[in-house]
Amino acid sequence: MAVAHRTFVCQACGAGHRKWAGQCEACGAWNSVTEEAPRERAPKGLGAKRGRALDLQTLASAAPPPPRLPTGMPELDRVFGGGLVPGSALLLGGDPGIGKSTLALQAAAALAGRGAACVYLSGEEAVDQVRLRAGRLGLAGATMALAAATNVGDIITTLEGGKRVDFVVVDSIQTMYLEQIDAAPGTVGQVRAAAHELIRWAKRQGAVVLLIGHVTKEGLIAGPRVLEHMVDTVLYFEGERGHQFRILRAVKNRFGATDEIGVFAMSDRGLEEVANPSSLFLGQRREDVTGSAVFAGIEGTRPILVEIQALVAPAPPGTPRRAVVGWDSGRLAMLLAVLDARCGLALGTSDVYLNVAGGLRISEPAADLAVAAALVSSLAAVPVPATTVVFGEVGLSGEVRPVSQMDARLKEAGKLGFRRAITPPGPALAGIERFEIGALSDLVDRIRGPRRKGSGHG
Ligand code: TYD
Ligand code: MG
Repeated sequence: MAVAHRTFVCQACGAGHRKWAGQCEACGAWNSVTEEAPRERAPKGLGAKRGRALDLQTLASAAPPPPRLPTGMPELDRVFGGGLVPGSALLLGGDPGIGKSTLALQAAAALAGRGAACVYLSGEEAVDQVRLRAGRLGLAGATMALAAATNVGDIITTLEGGKRVDFVVVDSIQTMYLEQIDAAPGTVGQVRAAAHELIRWAKRQGAVVLLIGHVTKEGLIAGPRVLEHMVDTVLYFEGERGHQFRILRAVKNRFGATDEIGVFAMSDRGLEEVANPSSLFLGQRREDVTGSAVFAGIEGTRPILVEIQALVAPAPPGTPRRAVVGWDSGRLAMLLAVLDARCGLALGTSDVYLNVAGGLRISEPAADLAVAAALVSSLAAVPVPATTVVFGEVGLSGEVRPVSQMDARLKEAGKLGFRRAITPPGPALAGIERFEIGALSDLVDRIRGPRRKGSGHG
């Protein structure tokens, strides 16, 4: 392989190119290919030079797993899988301004409060700014070491020279650089090399390094794919800027489940943990409005109830608008097609807007039936009763399929005062009244009432 000759690197996906190109052949991004200094040439092969024999081990181990470092913030520890693992590297990605620095500072303060030695390195803010923020968060008393630094050589020397360090925040990896590399900070080459050095230090010392990374508007951490496989855990901090809710989600975790989420609310005193997300997500709901349905979902191991809002409006001539926040637009297109083909609802000429309230992003297919309920409710101008939750997966033939963890969903709904559930057929807990729906057309009938041809509703 002639990898070493390639000096043009796509900043979006990290692919190498022999010459400059306006579009990256690998990922299709435009204007993302920039020149970088070549990496060291790879050796031709082993030749006569052989390494030493490795000490191969058995799968069974007598040594207990290393103790985890819990932060004591339950929403954070849940996402980590029970606490931080010594000798590991984490990447925290998210849009600028979403609250990454705030979260990292609060995590460091929480760990420091439990006796861990924490260092916060900021490449974006001066030490005074970090102090100011800590003051605003009520963390001025936390014992941690601060520095404004971007030179990775200096950072490693500092970390190795002093006392034991358990947890280091690097804010952000895009501002860090190695003098040895002839490229600007933030380029793939620099980001990769800086992360590599910092991660190696963490593994050597048995410390935890948290790298903060900004997401580009395309939804990628700049130079990020290369980082995702270098670190043990990839976390995304999401939320709508105008909303107070923030969701921390693990998209990769070598030490825990990846579908757990942590829910926070941004307040004037920083990020507050939300122990009972359902009640908050439903807090601002107005009852008995049309186009609204409450979905009983599962995020990780935890049931979460959330309101789904739909607005179906007559469209002016031309292509109707489809706008989706918090759900997959392809999935919406499928559901609209099924409602059209199997239930005879002509949505093809209407504008359709769909919103998951509170800034949550749902990826579960179980949301299909709740989305359908909100759509039908808006179209028929009939509210779904406020004490009803909905869940179920919808197939292309309009059938409603069972989903996992029915009992957990129903139990959470019951706990929050819901009295009825529209669900797929199948055995489930008693306790709340259940309407089993086998086909999407049954849902339509249930919401707007069965209609005869030609009759209006009213
Ligand atoms: P920040 O952590 O700086 O975001 P990031 O590091 O992801 O760029 O958070 C910035 C936003 O958070 C800023 O717009 C103000 C808001 N914020 C609060 O609302 N309350 C607070 O206590 C703090 C510290 C920030
Ligand atoms: Mg920041």
